Amino acid sequence: MAAKILVTGSTGTVGSLLIKELSKKTPVRAAVHTLSKAEGIKGPNVEIAVLDLKRKDTLDAALKGIERLYLLTPFTPDQAELAKTFIDAAKRSGVRYIVKQSAMGADSEPGITLGRLHRQVERYIEDSGIPYAFLRPNSFMQNFINFFGSSIRSEGKIYLPLGQGKVSYIDARDIAATAAEVLTKEGFQGRAIELTGPEALSVADVAGAFSEALGRQVIYVDVTPEAARGGMKAAGMNEWSINALMELHDINKKGYASKVTEQVEEITGRRPLSFRQFALDNARLLKKAA
Ligand SMILES: NC(=O)c1ccc[n+]([C@@H]2O[C@H](COP(=O)([O-])OP(=O)(O)OC[C@H]3O[C@@H](n4cnc5c(N)ncnc54)[C@H](OP(=O)(O)O)[C@@H]3O)[C@@H](O)[C@H]2O)c1
Repeated sequence: MAAKILVTGSTGTVGSLLIKELSKKTPVRAAVHTLSKAEGIKGPNVEIAVLDLKRKDTLDAALKGIERLYLLTPFTPDQAELAKTFIDAAKRSGVRYIVKQSAMGADSEPGITLGRLHRQVERYIEDSGIPYAFLRPNSFMQNFINFFGSSIRSEGKIYLPLGQGKVSYIDARDIAATAAEVLTKEGFQGRAIELTGPEALSVADVAGAFSEALGRQVIYVDVTPEAARGGMKAAGMNEWSINALMELHDINKKGYASKVTEQVEEITGRRPLSFRQFALDNARLLKKAA
């Protein structure tokens, strides 16, 4: 049977987990940007299609025969434009349902750059006439591996400008599990679904969970915004990305991302994973290099 569901960003954090979840139930087409990264997601029910949202010539082939779309965009300044072009192609191609991965707070006023870009795309989908659901997850637990993991590994330290701010971090496994339900079951159309973990934690709490899981001390270093900017610049990040992330850090520090919602449990039927569990399950990725 040919796949009727397409997942964009399928080699990324959520996409790769979602491909795993969906392919247990139904054939799925994985839209892959860098073909060499596709090895990790190949499987019996998985079709691979090349998709570069910047290359219009790749859009129609990836969408051929697709009825349901999981739309996830990369972290770039032109993400809203890329998404809109792809939504136009999806409409032409006869897609009947779009589940968009957005972000918690996308509808806040005035909000932050990242949220506003997501909301722009949500509005575009609303106006497209294609039935939709929006998933709005909070910050991922996986960020502590993907972006802040190297200093945990090498020094046992997490450098962030979040003060005592608490955030209800969510495990990407819970986003993927929820997304798989929302894509394959009825009853979610027109909903904006906010997804969080089970509790709001400060970075000191997060460091405590890693200390326990790793069996060695992990310390939170509360850095100034200037130091955080300097660190990102030294890591080679561009000005747009640094500004966007500093806005996010600021609202996290102020506690605007501490809300805890019940949607993961409502939709998947199980409690969202705790940070303690996340740290235990990923401890091997944070071991010191020998
Ligand atoms: N991280 C968080 O805490 C957080 C929280 C809430 C919402 N979000 C939202 O979640 C989304 C990111 O999800 P994620 O972290 O799972 O993604 P991710 O790990 O950053 O992966 C991005 C995916 O998009 C692909 N991609 C990059 N450029 C592309 C292009 N031009 N055309 C097609 N695909 C392309 C990448 O492939 P290559 O690697 O081959 O380029 C990769 O598969 C963003 O919209 C972000 O705003 C993130």
